[in-house]
Amino acid sequence: MKLKKLMCAVLAGVCVFSLAACGNKESGSKDGEKKETLVMATNAEFPPFEYYEGQEIVGIDAELAEEIGKILGMEVKIEDMAFDSVIPAVGTGKADFGAAGLTITEDRKTQVDFSDEYYTSKQKIIVKADNAEIASPDDLKGKKIGVQQGTTGDIYSTDDFGDESVQRFNKGMEAVQALQQGKVDAVIIDEQPAKTFVEENEGLKILETDYTEEAYAFCFKKDSDLVDKVNDALKQLKENGKFDEIVSKYINSDAE
Ligand code: ARG
Repeated sequence: MKLKKLMCAVLAGVCVFSLAACGNKESGSKDGEKKETLVMATNAEFPPFEYYEGQEIVGIDAELAEEIGKILGMEVKIEDMAFDSVIPAVGTGKADFGAAGLTITEDRKTQVDFSDEYYTSKQKIIVKADNAEIASPDDLKGKKIGVQQGTTGDIYSTDDFGDESVQRFNKGMEAVQALQQGKVDAVIIDEQPAKTFVEENEGLKILETDYTEEAYAFCFKKDSDLVDKVNDALKQLKENGKFDEIVSKYINSDAE
């Protein structure tokens, strides 16, 4: 037992030490000790994964990143940007990692490396509550579809229904408002934000049939040695219950 503890302490020390070389900025802490800073790229328009509460960015990704940072002995600084800037920022090393409810896709894998997946999601279709015409993805042919620019909802609906059918917005919420105003016929967006937006905006419903199933992961610059470290930290958070605690703080699974 004692030996195990000692080994852990030594290993933790080695991790922190070797990680110190990875962060691209340093920040001072109160006691004068320097802590490396990891810059996290996100788009904080995506409740419950990342969104503003007052001036602060909160949500599942924000809290997971903070916990991962604690394990790695690093401070996480969140940088909010347009969603379609997240992957370029990480790919070019402007940010150390991306955490943005980001779906793993083959195409994105050519630009960044992904961590292990941490959440299974779906693209859902939102329509007006009284819409009797659109009941499944097939009914979207020839319709105007609102999406957040650069998301998988954008990519897949452009593939399936053609560029001219898709209207792109900077924020998912703006697409939902356009739907409310009758400017688009449907919105394709990830399941959890879909639920939040439909709760917050009257007169809308989510179709039962899913559009796609996807998995979220963190992304990194290609060949970054952070990938393994974050995967190990993620595993720890899953094993010690912290992961579930964070997810259930933001997602009420009874209501699924
Ligand atoms: N899962 C989708 C994708 O990866 C949407 C993610 C949008 N995330 C955000 N933070 N706005 O394309």
